[in-house]
Amino acid sequence: MRLRAFAPEDLPSLYDVCVRTADAGGDARQLYPDQDLMPTIFLAPYVALDPSLAFVVDDGSRAVGYIIGTADTGEFVRRCRQEWLPTVAGRYPAPAAIDTPSDEMLALLHTPERMIVPELAAYPAHLHIDLLPAYQRKGLGRELMTAFLAALAGRGAPAVHLGMVTANVAARAFYDRLGFHVIDVPDAGVLTYLGRSTDS
Ligand SMILES: CC(C)(COP(=O)(O)OP(=O)(O)OC[C@H]1O[C@@H](n2cnc3c(N)ncnc32)[C@H](O)[C@@H]1OP(=O)(O)O)[C@@H](O)C(=O)NCCC(=O)NCCS
Repeated sequence: MRLRAFAPEDLPSLYDVCVRTADAGGDARQLYPDQDLMPTIFLAPYVALDPSLAFVVDDGSRAVGYIIGTADTGEFVRRCRQEWLPTVAGRYPAPAAIDTPSDEMLALLHTPERMIVPELAAYPAHLHIDLLPAYQRKGLGRELMTAFLAALAGRGAPAVHLGMVTANVAARAFYDRLGFHVIDVPDAGVLTYLGRSTDS
């Protein structure tokens, strides 16, 4: 098992990790018929726009987990709108109505500005972390987070946030152990926002 920087060849493996963990930490393949939809929103723009902040765990044959993110959420949102969305909007148009779980996700894809939340201003970086089930609870999440926080600190980002589905109690236990605290955000819906400094 080896932690290393993301490489473009990892992308298919990482799409697989993403979709198998995208339903509040569990397998989302039945929920969204298009298996590429969730990675297109929650994985691909990060490695496209800031690959140097992407780290993977490699089991010797493939990447089995990742941490991805941005040091500057405002800049990331601007680039999602201007650079990322135009590359995927043909395959994934904005939904005319919200009738299915996929429509809900398409609406998120088309509103990157939703990521700008005033209460999170002191935590300019944000992240996503996912490992395949067989590789969870082995210390790999902590290793990925340590590498990511060091990279953020090296970029001068003072603090990081994440939005997690509140129902994902296993992930919440992980973040608690890693020193994250709740950031109170009114009207957060199904999400809980957590944050911490990038100091080690
Ligand atoms: C959440 C996730 C990234 C955590 O990574 P991990 O490799 O499983 O966690 P680690 O083994 O590195 O655990 C780090 C610490 O958190 C604790 N922890 C992790 N999961 C826990 C759980 N379910 N319950 C209690 N403690 C937990 C560990 O005991 C460990 O504590 P210690 O190092 O102080 O002894 C991983 O489990 C995962 O990918 N889950 C599915 C996808 C997901 O939910 N992603 C987050 C979406 S917001």
